[in-house]
Amino acid sequence: MRRIMVLNSKGGCGKSTIATNLASYYTAYEEKNVTLVDFDPQASSLDWLKARSLALPEIRGINAVKDAVRFQRQTEVAIMDAPARVEGRELASLVKRAETIIIPVLPSPIDIRAAAGFIRELLTSGRVSRHETKVAVIANRVRENTLSYHALNAFLKTLKIPFVTTLRDTQNYIHAEEKGTGIFEMAPSKVWQDLEQWDPLIKWLRSKRSHPDSQ
Ligand SMILES: Nc1ncnc2c1ncn2[C@@H]1O[C@H](COP(=O)(O)OP(=O)(O)OP(=O)(O)O)[C@@H](O)[C@H]1O
Ligand SMILES: [Mg+2]
Repeated sequence: MRRIMVLNSKGGCGKSTIATNLASYYTAYEEKNVTLVDFDPQASSLDWLKARSLALPEIRGINAVKDAVRFQRQTEVAIMDAPARVEGRELASLVKRAETIIIPVLPSPIDIRAAAGFIRELLTSGRVSRHETKVAVIANRVRENTLSYHALNAFLKTLKIPFVTTLRDTQNYIHAEEKGTGIFEMAPSKVWQDLEQWDPLIKWLRSKRSHPDSQ
């Protein structure tokens, strides 16, 4: 089973948005049996599942705040949505649950500063330094040619972990969120730019680079 977590201790950077869209990708494009695991008491990912039409392929949800995280045997992909403000032991125990971690970062000075501290902490985790968990960052909610984006871009390029893609700020994610769907299940004529932006992330997830057995 593939286990992917979206993690950043900073609130509002797009963890649930990326997690739900990834669940939509694996369901709609790879036809995988997907379980979405929500570690956040706010339960945004589970709310997204509730809004999802029964006509769409089913995605199972687990409320990891209340229930034990037990996967059905047929589960092929587990997407995990982490809460904000995790650190210390709680962070270490979350990191153990996935072999791949995606960190979304917003282009704002506060978010960049917070991400620098968070990534520093994450990189000291034994699992990450031993390559037992692979980590990548993505820039989220970007408006090109803004000062903040240039600052974020420069910051992400200094990191020792891959900076795999940049997602733009668009209402498409808001529309998807409302309907319990993802950009991978919307009309390509509306979301083609977003699909293009997800492509490097999908390629990274499909490549050995995001699997712990590779260095
Ligand atoms: N690329 C984007 N374009 C436009 N809106 C976005 C984008 N990414 C996220 N958002 C919006 O930003 C808000 C915060 O996103 P989201 O809930 O995914 O963040 P989060 O990191 O899960 O937050 P929390 O830390 O509270 O769990 C949401 O309203 C979401 O719709
Ligand atoms: Mg969230």
